[in-house]
Amino acid sequence: MPQQRKSMHGEWSSRWAFILAATGSAVGLGNIWKFPYITGENGGGAFVLVYLACIAIVGIPIMMAEVMLGRRGRHSPINTMRLLAQESGRSPAWQLLGWGGVLAGFIILSFYSVIAGWALAYVLEAASGAFVGGEADRIGALFGGLLGNPVTLISWHTIFMAMTVFVVARGVEKGLERAVRVLMPALFALLLLLVGYAMNSGYFTDGLAFLFKPDFSKISAEGVLIALGHAFFTLSLGMGAIMVYGAYLPQKASIATTTVTIAAADTLVALLAGMAIFPIVFANGLEPGAGPGLIFQTLPIAFGQMPGGLLFGTLFFVLLSFAAWTSGISLLEPAVAWLVENRGLSRVVATVGCGGIIWLLGLASALSFNIWSDFTLFGKTIFDNLDFLASNIMLPLGGLLIALFAAWLLPRAISHDELAMREEGTYALWLFMVRYITPVGVSLVFLNAIGLI
Ligand code: PHE
Repeated sequence: MPQQRKSMHGEWSSRWAFILAATGSAVGLGNIWKFPYITGENGGGAFVLVYLACIAIVGIPIMMAEVMLGRRGRHSPINTMRLLAQESGRSPAWQLLGWGGVLAGFIILSFYSVIAGWALAYVLEAASGAFVGGEADRIGALFGGLLGNPVTLISWHTIFMAMTVFVVARGVEKGLERAVRVLMPALFALLLLLVGYAMNSGYFTDGLAFLFKPDFSKISAEGVLIALGHAFFTLSLGMGAIMVYGAYLPQKASIATTTVTIAAADTLVALLAGMAIFPIVFANGLEPGAGPGLIFQTLPIAFGQMPGGLLFGTLFFVLLSFAAWTSGISLLEPAVAWLVENRGLSRVVATVGCGGIIWLLGLASALSFNIWSDFTLFGKTIFDNLDFLASNIMLPLGGLLIALFAAWLLPRAISHDELAMREEGTYALWLFMVRYITPVGVSLVFLNAIGLI
């Protein structure tokens, strides 16, 4: 077995630093913005149940595989896959997995930045008292006004991309650690406050029933694929973000415990967001399937009506922007790490270059909410198509290949050594999951969604 490699990009200061950074990557718009709206669009409880099953059966084993490969390779995902394929005597074509991840990261960050821009815009709205009173129609009109204005959307998108480029250019470990340590708990506390508000809305049980009472007649084959895709999206899996963070993980840290901690925190945040939002939806006669605007049309109502709402509302959107920021950073890091390793570019040049391309691509999503909203393909807008392609096709496919490589091609001695589980039985369980359950599960969902089974 070769000697342990070292990462040229640095290392996290401790296991905790990794947990914080990876949680920062995982917890983001996916939990608070996307999870509630896709749950609403896909009928509630049954969708949530499938999503939870995907996290446990597919997400956690693949996350372990991704961190493990990253730490073994200690490079950008492209080079990590190349090195590990070499080490395992496999085709160098495995590095294409890294390339696919870079592409998926570009696509996701392009629309992610536009939505993060909405959160930034709402910081100012909240602070200026625009939510006060919290009448549902006025809040709805406010959101409509934002979407309808391409210049505003693009300006906020530009600001968010600039913020992301700024951090990645400086190197992810600096600053990120400290920010996440304070902001994540604060976001969590505010979500609890919102759930408390929802409890008093008179519709809490309706909200809970919508989220947790499965009605399988409401979920379609495509809905199952969306739930699977979201398990990847929300845990930042399948595109190398977690792999590249794993590359900076100290050798001693236990991969299994850290992974489970991250997945649990991520899931909790999503469920809390759902519990805060749906009671407000029902209390105000809103539509659960309202789409991507759902949280921007519901939470301001709560802030507008609750005492101290001006402060809490502002704080909430600040924290949501931060959560998006720490995720955006991880979407950009795999590409930048590769450019620094292989092209000898400085971090700053590499980051600004990638950021520019992503910014351009993001314009298409920004415009798809207004002047290009009638331009559709397969019945979906540009934003919806980019999201569907990246989240529901590229990420699960990337995850499937990661599982196959880690379970079947990488010598067992290596995975055993890196995972270093205390119990042999736990290792055997992981191996069984990534060998059989995960690949079969992901393939079945794909075949089902395209109508083959
Ligand atoms: N997990 C992030 C979220 O839920 C999004 C993300 C996806 C980040 C893929 C990195 C990689 O918001």
